Amino acid sequence: MNAKNLLQAIQKRRSVRVYKSGKISDRQLAMILEAARWAPSGANTQPWEFVVTRDRKKMKRVREIYDNEWKQRKREDPVRYKGLKKDYVGDVSVLVLVCGDPRTMKAYLTTRQMADREKLFQASIANAVEHMMLMAAILGFGTVWVSVREEVEPELRELFQVPQPLRLLWTVPIGHARSWPRAKPRRKVDAFTHYEIYDPKKLRADSEIRAWPKG
Ligand SMILES: Cc1cc2nc3c(=O)[nH]c(=O)nc-3n(C[C@H](O)[C@H](O)[C@H](O)COP(=O)(O)O)c2cc1C
Repeated sequence: MNAKNLLQAIQKRRSVRVYKSGKISDRQLAMILEAARWAPSGANTQPWEFVVTRDRKKMKRVREIYDNEWKQRKREDPVRYKGLKKDYVGDVSVLVLVCGDPRTMKAYLTTRQMADREKLFQASIANAVEHMMLMAAILGFGTVWVSVREEVEPELRELFQVPQPLRLLWTVPIGHARSWPRAKPRRKVDAFTHYEIYDPKKLRADSEIRAWPKG
C-alpha cells in the first residue's frame, strides 16, 4: 500500500450509525483483529482485550442497556440532554466490547503519576480501536466508537462476563452501512499545527470549542 492509499482509507472511515443486515466472514473479522494487534502501546503492554459477539440476543440486550441509559438521562434533563440513541448496537454483524487490563499500568516503570499511566493505558487501547476501524473501512464495513459510561458498565460486564479488574471502555459495532455517511467537518491542518513555537493567534476562543462543529 502506498501513502495515498493509506490516506484514502483514513478519509474513507466514518462513524456509521445505521446498518443493514449482512455477514462479516471469519476471515474478514480475523483481519480486523490482526490490525488491532499491531497497534503501538505504552511499553508494548498491549493492554486491550476484546469480547467479540455475533449473537443477536446479546446485541439486543446491549441495545436495551443503552436504551435504558438514554431514557434515564432524558427523564433527568428532557430539554438539554442531546445524547444520541444507540439503537445501532443491536443491528450489526459483529459487536466488539473493548476492554483493558489496568494491571498493565504497573508496567509503565518510568511513569509515576496515576494520570500519566491512565493516559498511556487509554491511548494504547484507542490505537488498537482505530486500527480495527481502518481495517473495517478498507474491507467496506462501517464502525462507530461507542462510549461505555458508568451507568451501563455493570450490565455490560455481567452480560459478557468480564472479570475484575478489567475495565470496559468502548463498544464497537461493525457491520454493513445502510448508506455511507458524508464526512464530518475537520479543522484545517494549519489551524492546529504550530511551527517551532505555539502560535497564540491560533488558540481557539472558548466559544469555538463545541460539540458537532459546523466546519
Ligand atoms: C473516544 C470516542 C468516543 C466516542 N463516543 C461515541 C458515542 O458514544 N456515540 C457515538 O455515536 N459516537 C461516538 N464517537 C464518534 C464521534 O462522534 C465521531 O468520531 C466524530 O463525530 C467524527 O465523525 P466521523 O467518525 O464520522 O469522522 C466517539 C468517538 C471517539 C473517538
